[in-house]
Amino acid sequence: MKYYLEKGGEVKVVLAFKDTARVESFNDLFGFLKEKEIFKGDSGEVYSHISHEGASVVFLGLGEEEKLQYETLRRGFFSLGIELQKKKVNSIGLTVPRFGDRCYGKTNKAIWEGLLQSQYDFDKFKSEKKLKVLLQDVYLDIVEGEAEKVESVIEETQLLMDGVFLARDLVNEPAMNMYPEVLAKEAVDRLAPVGIDVKVLGRKEIQDLKMEAFLSVARGSSKEPKFIVMTYKGNPDSQEKLALVGKGLTYDSGGYSLKSAAGMATMHSDMAGSASVIGAMYSIAANKLRKNVVAIVAACENMVSGDAYKTGDIIGSMSGKTIEVENTDAEGRLTLADALWYAATVEKADKIVDLATLTGACVVALGSINTGAIANDEELMDAVNSAAKLAGEPVWQLPNNEEYKELFKSHFADLKNTGGRGAGAITAGMFLQEFVNDTPWVHMDIAGTAFLDKEAGYLPKGATGVPVKTLFYLAKDMDQR
Ligand code: BES
Ligand code: MN
Ligand code: ZN
Repeated sequence: MKYYLEKGGEVKVVLAFKDTARVESFNDLFGFLKEKEIFKGDSGEVYSHISHEGASVVFLGLGEEEKLQYETLRRGFFSLGIELQKKKVNSIGLTVPRFGDRCYGKTNKAIWEGLLQSQYDFDKFKSEKKLKVLLQDVYLDIVEGEAEKVESVIEETQLLMDGVFLARDLVNEPAMNMYPEVLAKEAVDRLAPVGIDVKVLGRKEIQDLKMEAFLSVARGSSKEPKFIVMTYKGNPDSQEKLALVGKGLTYDSGGYSLKSAAGMATMHSDMAGSASVIGAMYSIAANKLRKNVVAIVAACENMVSGDAYKTGDIIGSMSGKTIEVENTDAEGRLTLADALWYAATVEKADKIVDLATLTGACVVALGSINTGAIANDEELMDAVNSAAKLAGEPVWQLPNNEEYKELFKSHFADLKNTGGRGAGAITAGMFLQEFVNDTPWVHMDIAGTAFLDKEAGYLPKGATGVPVKTLFYLAKDMDQR
C-alpha cells in the first residue's frame, strides 16, 4: 500500500457523519441515499457506487460527530478496506479533515492502521486465497502544513503493523512447525536485520544458568528448549533498560495434569507472549526508537513422556527458591520464574513487563476484551495504561494484596505453583512477582486477548497480535520523558 500526499485515485472515499446534512462531494447521491435510508452514516457503515463511466465513490459512515474516537476511525477504515476488496478497488482518493480538536497525527495514524488491518489474512495453508485485490494506491488530500507529520506517522504505523502481523504469523503457525528452535530462528531472521542482537542458549547453557524450573517444564518434550535474549540498544547514552519477557510455550498439553481435548485444541498459541515480544522488538527497532530494550523468552513445550516432570515434584529455580509442582499445567509461571529472574539480575533491567497467556481464570474474569494486569509499581502501571489507551488495547488491573500470598505457600517448599480455585489470575501473577527481585514490574495476562475463537472487528479469528502496539507505545513514550 503506497500513499501520495496529493489529490487523485480512481475511487473517491467520502466520509459522512450520521448527523451532518452535507458531505464534501457527491452531495446529490448522498442526499438521495439518506432520504431513502440506504446509507445513514452509522459508524463503520459503507456504501459503494462503482461505475464504469463517470465517477465512482465509496461512502464511509463515522457515526455521531461528537462521539468520534480514534478507534471509530480504525474500525471504519477496516470496514472500508474490506469493502474495497469486495469491489476490487485498488486506488482511492481521500480528504483527511481535521476533526475538531483531535490530533491530526493520531487521526492519520488511525486511518492508516484501519486500512492495513483489512489486509491481514493467515492464508498460507489455503489453496484459495481470500484476499485477492489489494489496495495499492492511496491519495491523501491533507490539511496544509501537515505533510511532514503525516508522512512520519504513516511510516511509523506501517512498521508498527509489520510487527503486529509478525506476531500474528508466529502464533498462528501450528506447533508442528513452530517449536523452540524455529521460534529462535525466526527471532534471529526477523530481528537481526533491524539491528537487534539475538542470543540463543541451548539446553547446556540453560543448565549452566541453573534454570531448573524452566528445564523441568521442558523435560517431557523431545524438542530442545531455547532461551532467547534479544537486545536493542537504541540509546547508547542511557543506562536505562526496559525488559520485555514473553511466555514461550510453543505447545501446552498440560503435561501429566493433562488438558481436555477442547482445552488443548489451540494451545499452539501458548507462545503468544513471546510472539508479541518479538513483534514489538521489530517495531521498536525498525522505527529506531531511542530506547534500550531487552526481550527475553524461555521457549519450550509442555508434554508428557516417561521423563516428564510430575505432580509432587519439588524443583529449584535460578533464584534459589524451591517450588512444589501441584499441577504440571501451571507451567507458564515456572518458565517465567527463571526468565524474570534473569531479566532482573543478569540483565539488571530497570523495568520489567511480562506478557503471558497465563491463566484460564483471566479469561473467565475478563473475557477477550481486556488484558489482565498485576503490578508492583503504580508508575509503571500508569505508563502501561496510557500506552494501552493509545493502542486501543484495553487493560484492566487486578489487585495484589499481600493476603493472596497465603494461597501459594507450600508446606514442603518455598512456594507451590497453584493457588487453588479462587483468584487464579491474581495468584498466578503474584507468583511471578516473587521472581522480579523488587524491580518495577507489570504482568499482562493475555490468555483472553491474544487469540480469539472468532473475529472481532479488525481483530481476526486466531492470533490478534495483542499487545504489540501497547509495548511499542510504552517504549516510545518512556523515551519522551
Ligand atoms: N496456557 C494455559 C492458560 C490458558 C488457558 C491460555 C486458556 C489460553 C487459554 C496455562 O498454562 C494453564 O494451563 N493454566 C492453568 C493454571 C491452573 C492449572 C492453576 C489454568 O488456567 O487452568
Ligand atoms: Mn498450562
Ligand atoms: Zn500454558
